[in-house]
Amino acid sequence: MNRQISRGEEALNVLRGNDRGGYTIPTHGLYPYQWNWDSAFAAMGFAGFDPARAWRELESLLSGQWDDGMVPHILFHQQDDGYFPGPEVWGGTGPIPSSGISQPPIAAGMARRIYQADPQAGAEPMRALFPKLLRWHRWFLKWREDQGAICTTHPWESGRDNAPEWDAALKRIDPVGVGEYQRRDTSHVDASMRPTKFDYDRYIWLVQQGKNLQWDQAALLKECPFRLADPTMSFTLLRAHRDLKALGDELGLDTGGMADEIALLERGVQSLWNAEIGSFDVRDTRSGEWSGIISCAAFLCWYAGIESEGQLQHLRRILGRVTYGVPSADPDWSGFDSKRYWRGPSWPFMNMLIGSGLIEAGHSEGEKIRAMTQELLLKHGFSEYYDPLSGEPAGGGKFTWTAAVWLGWVSVDKG
Ligand code: SER
Repeated sequence: MNRQISRGEEALNVLRGNDRGGYTIPTHGLYPYQWNWDSAFAAMGFAGFDPARAWRELESLLSGQWDDGMVPHILFHQQDDGYFPGPEVWGGTGPIPSSGISQPPIAAGMARRIYQADPQAGAEPMRALFPKLLRWHRWFLKWREDQGAICTTHPWESGRDNAPEWDAALKRIDPVGVGEYQRRDTSHVDASMRPTKFDYDRYIWLVQQGKNLQWDQAALLKECPFRLADPTMSFTLLRAHRDLKALGDELGLDTGGMADEIALLERGVQSLWNAEIGSFDVRDTRSGEWSGIISCAAFLCWYAGIESEGQLQHLRRILGRVTYGVPSADPDWSGFDSKRYWRGPSWPFMNMLIGSGLIEAGHSEGEKIRAMTQELLLKHGFSEYYDPLSGEPAGGGKFTWTAAVWLGWVSVDKG
């Protein structure tokens, strides 16, 4: 008997299809390994129907933690020639072949959601994860902190690869010695939806620099030209640290020092306020310059528990210009490109972080973003990202974190 499967069933199928046994890939082909923040969303997706598998997802992510506390942005659990740059290009030094940079810390927040759904079953896995997550958060505070804000040292570390805020810093890099390489991303999806060669040369140059310095953070702190205090890193760490402290307090674990760290981050995010544009912004710690561009990252303030009337004004303006959620870049910015990755498209997982933060803060815009995201996924299924004007799907298909957002945030059925 043929029948139309519901979006909920489809979402479960996406997660199951991307499950590689203990970890979940973002999507077949384009991203064939375990990605850090994707994996945290996968855990949220599993939580509703297989909580043990949800905990397993977070455990496998943390199993890649380096000695210094860093949790890599990619864990290369097996070889896959369809991806570049692979483990040999990165030369990661952790227990599992990996990249040498991290990614925005989403895992603690997802762990808290999974724990809260069943505190009894969650107590043991959470106790085991707590010290690992704490070491990771403290790695950010030790190696990425600037005036209390958190920096990204590679466009891939922020997770927003080709965001316009990186343009000026990337322009200053002369990618000398990068040599020939074969991109793989553009063999999976249309090049017009991906970063340019100009960007990629600099991404690879930064990887090569890190590898040459054996990912020695003290050396990179001195030498890496790309060190930008970033709202994504700062707001996600602030939220993650709040969530982790709440979990630790509830389980009677040692949370000493965390309140002071939260206070530092609360002060730090204010160092990202660009008064000229009336918005949170990326501050380049090397040049001292602002990007001057409003991206979706600025609207993560509520997710971090930070209120801002000025930011809300920008949000209202931007939501009035699009149909399907918060665009990754301001539609009034001259370079806005509705299909190119982080230069315009709407990303459902970002809508969830922004929208849920707004809902917690009591702003009606949060429900509006949720409804926009729901309509988008009902109409167009589970892609990597979408044109915020037309809703057209873009990037990879059958995407884990988008399916997880359906299951964890916007579902209209139980599949
Ligand atoms: N997002 C990057 C890529 O496209 C890596 O994290 O490969």
